[in-house]
Amino acid sequence: MTSKHFDNAAAEWDKKSRRVALAEKISNAIARLPLSYDMDSMEFGCGTGLVGIALAPSLHHLTTIDTSQGMLDILQQKTVEQEISNITPLCCDLLKEDYAQKHDLIFSSMTLHHIQDTAALLQRFTELLNPGGYLALADLVEEDGSFHDPDAKGIHHKGFELSYLKGLLADNKMTEIKSEIIHTIFKSKETEKKYPVFLLTARKTQ
Ligand SMILES: C[S@@+](CC[C@H](N)C(=O)[O-])C[C@H]1O[C@@H](n2cnc3c(N)ncnc32)[C@H](O)[C@@H]1O
Repeated sequence: MTSKHFDNAAAEWDKKSRRVALAEKISNAIARLPLSYDMDSMEFGCGTGLVGIALAPSLHHLTTIDTSQGMLDILQQKTVEQEISNITPLCCDLLKEDYAQKHDLIFSSMTLHHIQDTAALLQRFTELLNPGGYLALADLVEEDGSFHDPDAKGIHHKGFELSYLKGLLADNKMTEIKSEIIHTIFKSKETEKKYPVFLLTARKTQ
């Protein structure tokens, strides 16, 4: 899936109840981290802000990053309508562009599988965290490739093995590495299929 695909999907994104329900589970799970009103945070692959808008009231500031301007436009519109003043949307590709702002919390929902070089991205997240800062990543547990339509583009991973991601975080000297299954997506294929979603959290050394 390209940013054009997400630009086209943006206006209808929040109308799918399955997505809204998942985002609620993810934001509730991230909210169990010790968030505080002085935290400067970043969401990677924010989409229309389903997760970020729920968390922003518990944080000092949230920079929401996405490569789809269409998604960011919807997010911006929602922040205006809801009079949210601590979110800054930013169209940026973290792996290709200069971005050096440091954060106390970085989180991401259902975007990791769209990024080819997982190791480079996790290293980038680690670099962008302040000492003691938290990372929270939600995505699909490794699946058989049936989650997305067969012609979908930009799907680089069929979910993830948690042990692989935990190993990458350990390589980056992240600590307090924990995971939990926070939700299961049900989809009707030939038979009903279940796709568990994890939240993986870790902390940068102090
Ligand atoms: C499946 S959507 C998830 C959106 C949102 N996080 C949610 O849970 O509703 C994936 C998002 O990642 C964004 N994305 C894809 N590649 C990206 C990249 N390299 N950098 C930043 N965002 C990216 C897409 O534009 C899209 O908004």
